[in-house]
Amino acid sequence: MNAPKRYTITSALPYTNGPIHIGHLAGVYVPADIYSRYLRITGNDVAFICGSDEHGAAIPMRAKKEGVSPRVIIDKYHAIIKKSFEDFGITFDNYSRTSAPIHHETASEFFKKLYEDGKFIEETSEQLYDAEADQFLADRFVTGTCPKCGNEEAYGDQCENCGSSLNATDLINPKSTISGAKPTLKQTKHWFLPLDQYEDFLREWVLVGHKKDWKTNVYGQIKSWVDDGLRPRAVTRDLDWGIPVPVEGAEGKVLYVWFDAPIGYISSTKEWADREGKDWEPYWKDEDTKLVHFIGKDNIVFHCIIFPSMLKAEGSYILPENVPANEFLNLEGNKLSTSKNWAVWLHEYLEDFPDKQDVLRYALTANAPETKDNDFTWKDFQDRNNNELVGNFGNFINRIVVLTNKYYDGVVPTPNEFSELDLQTLTELRAYPAVISSSIERYRFREGSQELLNVSRLGNKYLADEEPWKLIKTDPERVKTIMYVGLQVAAALATLSEPFLPFTSQKLKNILAATSSDIKTNWNEIATKEVLLPAGHTIEKAELLFSKIEDADIQKQLDKLEATKKANEAENKTIEPQKDTATFEDFTKMDLRVGTIVEAEKMSKAKKLLVLKVDTGLNVRTIVSGIAEHFKPEDLIGKKVTVLVNLAPRKLRGVESEGMILMTETPDGKLVFLNPDEDGVTPGAVIS
Ligand code: 2FM
Ligand code: ZN
Repeated sequence: MNAPKRYTITSALPYTNGPIHIGHLAGVYVPADIYSRYLRITGNDVAFICGSDEHGAAIPMRAKKEGVSPRVIIDKYHAIIKKSFEDFGITFDNYSRTSAPIHHETASEFFKKLYEDGKFIEETSEQLYDAEADQFLADRFVTGTCPKCGNEEAYGDQCENCGSSLNATDLINPKSTISGAKPTLKQTKHWFLPLDQYEDFLREWVLVGHKKDWKTNVYGQIKSWVDDGLRPRAVTRDLDWGIPVPVEGAEGKVLYVWFDAPIGYISSTKEWADREGKDWEPYWKDEDTKLVHFIGKDNIVFHCIIFPSMLKAEGSYILPENVPANEFLNLEGNKLSTSKNWAVWLHEYLEDFPDKQDVLRYALTANAPETKDNDFTWKDFQDRNNNELVGNFGNFINRIVVLTNKYYDGVVPTPNEFSELDLQTLTELRAYPAVISSSIERYRFREGSQELLNVSRLGNKYLADEEPWKLIKTDPERVKTIMYVGLQVAAALATLSEPFLPFTSQKLKNILAATSSDIKTNWNEIATKEVLLPAGHTIEKAELLFSKIEDADIQKQLDKLEATKKANEAENKTIEPQKDTATFEDFTKMDLRVGTIVEAEKMSKAKKLLVLKVDTGLNVRTIVSGIAEHFKPEDLIGKKVTVLVNLAPRKLRGVESEGMILMTETPDGKLVFLNPDEDGVTPGAVIS
C-alpha cells in the first residue's frame, strides 16, 4: 500500500444507442469500479469519471431506425444506462453526457486551441459520398472489406475484427449503410491531426517508458500501429449531429466523435469539480496525478495513440499512467452483439435476479477477459454463485454469525489464550490486504477476487478444523477463542469484499453492526490491528448473504437466448428465388381439392411421417405426410386441407401415398397447413 495519491480514473463513455450489457460491465465498468473503490478506501483522492457518448454516427442511425430524432434516442438510453450503473453499484463521482453545454464548450475550446496553435492540417480531399442520401460517408455510415484482415464488415473508421483504425477511403468495396449504394467520391474540406508527427513522442512515451508495466495486449497493439507508420487523421466530419466545428468556413461540419468523446472525460471532471467546489485542473494537469483509462480492446487506438497525441498537442495536460484495456467477453460461445440482441442486458438481468447485482459483478470478475477473450456461460454463473458465494463466502459468514448468536446472544466473546492455529490464522488473515492490494494495483481483478474467496476459505477451514459446534459441550472456554478468531475473519471480509461485492460488504457490515467506532473497517488496519471486532461488541442476527440459483432459473435464461437465436435465424433466412415460369396449361394440370382428414396415425419407425386417410370428395385415400414432428395425430381429425389429388402415387416406407397435402413453413421452421392467414406465415413462404 503506497502513500495516498490523486487519481483520475476514467471509464469509456458508452454510446447512447442502446442499453448496456454484461460485456460492458465485465470489460470496463466493474474493473474500474473495483479499482476506484479500492483506492478510496485506502485513503486516496479519487475522481472516477464517466458519461454518455452521445455523438457519432451510431446515434442518428438508431434514430432513423426507430423513426425519431437523435435527441429522443440519447435521452432514452442515457437514462437507462445511468440507472444500470447505479443499480450495479458503479460509483462514478460524476456521470455526465456529451450533449451537455459544458462538454460542447470544453471540446470546442480544445479544438480552437489546437487550431490556433497550428496543430492541424487543413485539407480538401475526395471522400466517400452517398449521392442517393446526399450525405458524406464516414465511420458507421459505410462498411466494406478491411484492407488489413479481410473482414467484410469493417466500418469506415475501424475494423472491429482486427482493431485497425481506418479511413473510410481505405475500405475495399465500400457500401453505404444508409442506402446500400456504392459510394462515389466528392471533394470536401477537413482538419487532420498529423499523427505521423507524434510517432517519436508515442514511441518514447509508451514503447520505451511503459514497456514493463502496461498489459501486453495494449503494448502490442500500440507497437504494431507505430511500427506500421501513422497517418494524419481527420478530426472533423460532414454530419449534422455533433459539436459544430468552431472555426470559420466549417459550416455543416462537426467534430469527429472520437475527437470529442475523450474530451468528455475532462468536461465531466469539470462538471464534478463545479458541483463539489473543487478545482478540476490538478486532476488533469498536475504531474502527480495518476490518470488511468479503463476501456475495451476496440478502444485502444483512441486512448493510446489519438487522445494522447491530442493532449500532447494541447500541451498542458498529463498523459495516462496506464490503460488497462480488457479483451472481449463472449456469451455462450458467440460474440456479444447489440444489433443481434445477443446479450444479457443489465436492466433485464435485474428483472430476473433483482437482488443479485454482486453475483453478476463477481461472476464477471472471476471470469474477466483480462488477458484473452472469455466466454460467459449461465452454467458458470450458477456454479460461481452456488459453489463460491453461497458455498464458501456465505456459508462461512452464516456459520459464524448463527453460532455467535446461539452461544453468546450475539456478543463477541473474550478469547482465552491463542493456540498455534489461532495465531497462524490471524497472521494469514493480516497478509490478505497486501495480497489483494497487489492484485488490484496490477489490474489483476480476477486474481484479487480469488484471493478474497481465499479469506473465507481460510475461515471455513479454521471452523472445520476446530469444530466449535462439537467443542461447545466439552470445552466452552476454547469455543470462545475460536469464535473470536472466526469473527475477526468475518470483519476482515466485510472490508476486503467492498471493492468486489459492495452490496454484500454493506450487508455484512450491518450484520456485524460494524458502524460503531470501535470496529476496524479500514483496509490498512486489517494488516496492523490485533482486533477488528472487539470482545463485548454485539452483532446482529444472521441474514443470508447469498441464495442458491436453481437450474430452472438458468434454463429460463438459456431459453431466452435460444429464442433470440431462432429469431435471428428467421431474419437471416433468405427468401427462396422464384421458380421457372409455369404456363396456364401447367397450372391447370394440377388438380387441387379440399379434403377432410378422417384418420391419422404415426408410421412405425418413421419419426417424421404420419399416415393420413383423407376424404377428397372423390374417395377416401391414403396420404403419407412428413408432418409428424409438428402435429399430434389426434389433433388432425376433421381438419380441412388443400390436397393435390393427381400427383403420381409413390411409396413411402412401403405405404402408397396418393396425393399431397399443401403446407407452408414459418420462418422459425414450424410447418402449417396452407392458410396464409395463419400466425407466423410471412410473404415469400413457399407452398409445397
Ligand atoms: O466504444 C464506445 O462505446 C465509445 N463510445 C467509447 C468512447 S470512450 C471515450 F473516449 F469517450
Ligand atoms: Zn480488420
